[in-house]
Amino acid sequence: MTIPIGIDCIALAAPQGYLDLTDLAEARGVPPGKYVEGLGVRRMAVAQPWEDPVALAANAASRLLSDPSIDRARIGLCIVGTETAVDHSKPIAAWLHGLLGLPQPARAYDARHACFGGTAGLLTAIDWIASGSARGRTALVVCSDIARYELRSPGEPTQGAGAVALLISERPRLLAIEAGTSGSYSRNVDDFWRPLDRKEALVDGQLSVQCYLDALGGAYSEWKKVAPAGALARRCYHVPYGKMARKAHRHARRIDGLTDQEADDSFAAEVAPSLLLPAEVGNVYTGSLYFAVASLLRAEAAVLEGQRVGLFSYGSGCTAEFFAGRVAEGAAALCAGLDLAQPLSSRRRYSIAEYEAIRAADTQPDHAWRGSGDARPGEFAFVGLEAGARRYLQAR
Ligand code: HMG
Repeated sequence: MTIPIGIDCIALAAPQGYLDLTDLAEARGVPPGKYVEGLGVRRMAVAQPWEDPVALAANAASRLLSDPSIDRARIGLCIVGTETAVDHSKPIAAWLHGLLGLPQPARAYDARHACFGGTAGLLTAIDWIASGSARGRTALVVCSDIARYELRSPGEPTQGAGAVALLISERPRLLAIEAGTSGSYSRNVDDFWRPLDRKEALVDGQLSVQCYLDALGGAYSEWKKVAPAGALARRCYHVPYGKMARKAHRHARRIDGLTDQEADDSFAAEVAPSLLLPAEVGNVYTGSLYFAVASLLRAEAAVLEGQRVGLFSYGSGCTAEFFAGRVAEGAAALCAGLDLAQPLSSRRRYSIAEYEAIRAADTQPDHAWRGSGDARPGEFAFVGLEAGARRYLQAR
């Protein structure tokens, strides 16, 4: 019998503040319904200069490792999925390795393909364990991103920020992934990209929606050919904004032969619980799918133990994968103890003036920043450059 491999534990991190999308709608002269119902967005996390993708990754990972049942000395692989790296060469994984005191005999690197980098890390970690290379060790996979588009552009209400840390192991306590039976899809498209000199992404919004749906169609159809038969109790999609998951579900269920009405009727049960936490932070790029997984487990692990969940990951450019997992027995009790939404519980609602000031500060070069800002005790912060190199500290 093959030993199950998958997500053993999960932890989230988010910046301390967010923008309410009704405030943004008012400031931009847009009916709030366009953002709230039209795009299905509620709040978007806004990162301050000290809350960079390294600090967010370290906050999620240190929260994960604070679980007393996790032995950091057994971590043999650390992969960070990100598309908003802070250096063209040095990976976030290297800083993470140092900040968290991971074992020296470990492999640590970043995986990059737009929003797909986290899934690339997860699937690589599963293959690493399945191949025997892990020799009984575990893998840490962290997704960390800050999604930025130009102010006043159509993409503005679909920004966000945050990080997710996943521990991947044999006999996982949360979600066993069905290894070797995923459906893949790739194609060279110019739907979304970020030139090396820019912090803000460029996007052909309507094309990106179509590319996402084409990739979902391709990956899902392939998955249906190769995966074991059996129904999916729930589905988690990459969530750039809530409405996209609704469009995705309709598209996938059409392939199953459902009418649009039948697909829409199944949305509340099959997808909506996975959208609660993504609606708190907005698009977290690599982390969006795993915020959705955390949201689903937090809301419904008790009824899903032993049941199968579908996962769809999309990275612009593009590559995509549809795969499935089974919720582990005991996952509900573990999730209750993890208090997954705690990092989202005491955040500040920024005014439009504060949000725009944060974005203006973003245009300053990194060497202009000094200090740990308002980092709370225990949180990691980017504190500026020293001899040209980025420095971090954990606030006391
Ligand atoms: P837009 O110009 O706001 O689009 O751009 P729209 O005018 O078509 O309006 C959006 C929806 O609001 C429509 O509904 C309207 O009917 C509705 P839909 O036809 O889609 O069902 N609407 C209203 N509803 C209620 N009350 C109203 C009202 N007015 C209009 N008063 C777009 C939307 C998503 C294109 C834009 O925000 C954008 O460019 N976002 C960034 C790109 C993006 O998120 N793309 C998603 C797919 S690609 C992806 O997921 C990859 C990504 O995560 C990056 C990566 O892989 O790394 C982005």
